[in-house]
Amino acid sequence: MAKKINIEELNIPEHVAIIMDGNGRWAKKRLLPRTAGHAQGARVAEQICDDAWDLGIKYLTIYAFSTENWKRSEEEVGMLMNLLRKYMISSLEKCAKNNVRVRVIGDKTKLAADLQESIANLEEKTKENTGLNFTIAINYGGRDEIVRAVKKLAAKVKDGELEIDNIDEDAFNSFLDTNELPYPDLMIRTSGELRSSNFLPWQIAYSEFYFTDVLWPDFDKKELEKAVEYYNKRDRRFGGTK
Ligand code: IPE
Ligand code: IPE
Ligand code: MG
Repeated sequence: MAKKINIEELNIPEHVAIIMDGNGRWAKKRLLPRTAGHAQGARVAEQICDDAWDLGIKYLTIYAFSTENWKRSEEEVGMLMNLLRKYMISSLEKCAKNNVRVRVIGDKTKLAADLQESIANLEEKTKENTGLNFTIAINYGGRDEIVRAVKKLAAKVKDGELEIDNIDEDAFNSFLDTNELPYPDLMIRTSGELRSSNFLPWQIAYSEFYFTDVLWPDFDKKELEKAVEYYNKRDRRFGGTK
């Protein structure tokens, strides 16, 4: 019999980042359109927010739409954008009730104007909340984030506001979209793919990685607990010795 996990005894990662993958395959297995997988995936993402907070996770960052996902069909991209639109509005009440602070990372300037507005509204309305820090990556690509950060940094150097000698890791980090977040302790990817697909390349330099074959729409609190348990077995040395 499998040993029962006693979550109370575990060291809980402060920041968990998730690459939610496998929606399309989940739908295909059920002979449904890919969009049905995304709809179910969105429900799971909302549930995982509550579950993460229950476990004591303080920061949850999810990959919802990458800079590369525009390559998908117009229908699929449109549906994903509509799901995000709906979330930005429907979650206002729930975030207030659950004290969740929402942030969106990624290049928002390429999103439809109404979506940008509802993102700004949700960020603003939740900014004083002290519960879960929930970050959604939309039109996010790690390389794109780094290039945008370099441009902001270069402008400061050009204007004489930043000395080249004062550029260090902390200074560079302050230009990233994630500048208010700690680095992820644990990165989870569902659906069996063993790659990071341009998600938080700078930030995950010392994260632990947990890969599972479970497809995102089937992911639940038990699976999250398994990932946390795996994290507990890792020996994080950060380059030192123990
Ligand atoms: C992840 O599921 C969701 C997004 C990338 C938006 P996929 O849509 O990539 O599902 P698979 O990988 O095709 O199964
Ligand atoms: C990564 O999944 C992006 C998101 C989960 C939003 P993809 O399905 O787009 O990544 P690849 O194509 O398998 O690398
Ligand atoms: Mg995929």
